[in-house]
Amino acid sequence: MLKIAVPRDVSLIGMNDFNSKEFNSLIRARRSVFPNNFTGERVDDAIVKQLLENASWAPTHKLTEPWRFIVFAGDGLKKLASFQSECYKRVTQEKGTFNEMKYEGLKLKPMESSHVIAVGMKRDDKKSVPEWEEMGAVFCAIENIYLTATAYGIGCYLSTGGVTNFEEAKSFFGLGSEDKLLGFIHVGIPKNLAGTSKRNPIEEKTKWITT
Ligand SMILES: Cc1cc2nc3c(=O)[nH]c(=O)nc-3n(C[C@H](O)[C@H](O)[C@H](O)COP(=O)(O)O)c2cc1C
Repeated sequence: MLKIAVPRDVSLIGMNDFNSKEFNSLIRARRSVFPNNFTGERVDDAIVKQLLENASWAPTHKLTEPWRFIVFAGDGLKKLASFQSECYKRVTQEKGTFNEMKYEGLKLKPMESSHVIAVGMKRDDKKSVPEWEEMGAVFCAIENIYLTATAYGIGCYLSTGGVTNFEEAKSFFGLGSEDKLLGFIHVGIPKNLAGTSKRNPIEEKTKWITT
């Protein structure tokens, strides 16, 4: 029979001093905060570096650390705006799907944020683990960014629109054909406290098998 070791006192799980009540609150308080709710002030670069430092402590199978980040701030945001709008125009005009409003949006959107972090997944040469595992690791890193931002009172959200799925955009972000561009994290100082959200009961999505 399978024996499961259960600590006598659940507070001893992990044998550390972390405040689990605060941690649970932090997870619940994490929200996507959108640029229309940013003040326009610049977030301290030191905080953005902390977001990225914590991102790199995400789990990663075989320690491949597949996450890659390019941070755009200041005039860098204009470079991103110009690249993504022109890339969008070129690709969609060829396909006949060009939309003027979308183009104008891509030209303006980066400047609504303090920083925009392009997020990529880089395959290691040996392809040590399947692609989906590497993408999973990067999304774990993204969650670390979200949670760290919450802890520092910073707003952010992940956008997977724009040129995210454009093969033609990858090289601008230092990514090759085997790699993936996974999205853009927009960062800013929130105008007001993040709102609430809701989730369905986890019991609806969980099955326990204990005997
Ligand atoms: C993989 C992924 C992609 C997302 N892409 C977008 C996006 O392109 N545009 C957007 O407005 N929000 C995007 N979001 C943010 C979701 O809209 C947001 O997480 C959802 O509304 C729940 O809100 P919350 O993050 O405040 O809990 C994305 C989230 C995830 C996990």
